[in-house]
Amino acid sequence: MHETRIIQAEDEEMAEAVHQAVALLAAGELVALPTETVYGLAADAFNDEAVAKIFAVKERPSFDPLIVHIAANRDLKKVAIVPPEIEEAVAALSAAFWPGPLTIVLPKAPGVSDLVTAGLPTVAVRMSANPIFRRVGKEFGKPIAAPSANRFGRISPTSASAVMKELGGRISLIIDGGACRDGLESTIIRIEPGEKRPVFQILRAGPISKEDLQKHGKVVKVRERDAASKPEVPGQLPSHYAPTTPLLIFDKPEDFHPEAGKRYGLISYRSWTKDGYITLHDWEKVETLSSGSGKLVEAAVRFFHVLRTMDEAELDFIVAEPVADTGLGVAINERLRRAAAK
Ligand code: TXA
Ligand code: MG
Repeated sequence: MHETRIIQAEDEEMAEAVHQAVALLAAGELVALPTETVYGLAADAFNDEAVAKIFAVKERPSFDPLIVHIAANRDLKKVAIVPPEIEEAVAALSAAFWPGPLTIVLPKAPGVSDLVTAGLPTVAVRMSANPIFRRVGKEFGKPIAAPSANRFGRISPTSASAVMKELGGRISLIIDGGACRDGLESTIIRIEPGEKRPVFQILRAGPISKEDLQKHGKVVKVRERDAASKPEVPGQLPSHYAPTTPLLIFDKPEDFHPEAGKRYGLISYRSWTKDGYITLHDWEKVETLSSGSGKLVEAAVRFFHVLRTMDEAELDFIVAEPVADTGLGVAINERLRRAAAK
């Protein structure tokens, strides 16, 4: 059991916060850090004992590999081998999206342990754009393994207080960098050489959308065969991001048939009458993802926070309406469906 401290990392407090985070990493300990997507539970990627602590604290099964975060392009070769046939594609993607919420799966470098990659021959790599995370990465000087800072299968944390609810008592330090900029975990892709342009398979939808990626290559669906081979595809288990309150998604408002005497809350995209959900029922609680005409960027930022708030409201059921299935909406809907899965 740990006493979990939260320290602020704004302005003049930043240097001290970074110093304490780096000291923990160097000592083989864990620290929760903000990234631009969600908060991460960080450890020295080259220290097996430290990496093992991540799995223990999160109660994460050892078959689920971790993402390795690098602080600069030159560090890529410390963790991955870039095959010559996709070298140009990796260079183009890293120039376009790093630092930022794109994770690329590549053959792993020999030094990367099987614990990090769950025995896979590949490693997932990204470079965070969060200034606090970046500074910790630079000062620590080594790649950082960091999954989302929640207990396995639960709602990802997008604030320091959400990390406290997930991991309070299990880790010693959370660095508070405020709410996360993007609010959804990074997009994960695999790259294959194509005839004319590289081919990208999206393994997990995220802030970098299909439309963003199409500027740099051809985007294809993950093949069924690959999707079936569990550890190859992230968030493999159907139930993920799960609240403890059952979540129901209705693609059309007419599909909703409430049970008498149950308490229902609604997660609405924009809460417009014409969208059909807000007037369906006398909701115990309504949370609107993005008011006015609705912006997917805002909905994404608020999504996990809203899910957590609804989960704390002592409802019998949380009802959600899906958002538009384009751009960032794909990533939001993917999380909604997994959160609703049993
Ligand atoms: O935005 C993010 O990516 C956040 C922040 C903290 O960086 N991290 C994150 O990590 O979402 P995590 O562990 O919650 O999700 C990582 C996913 C897992 O579902 C895992 O299966 C997948 O990445 N993954 C890791 N290594 C992989 C590999 N070699 N091949 C395929 N998928 C991999
Ligand atoms: Mg996660």
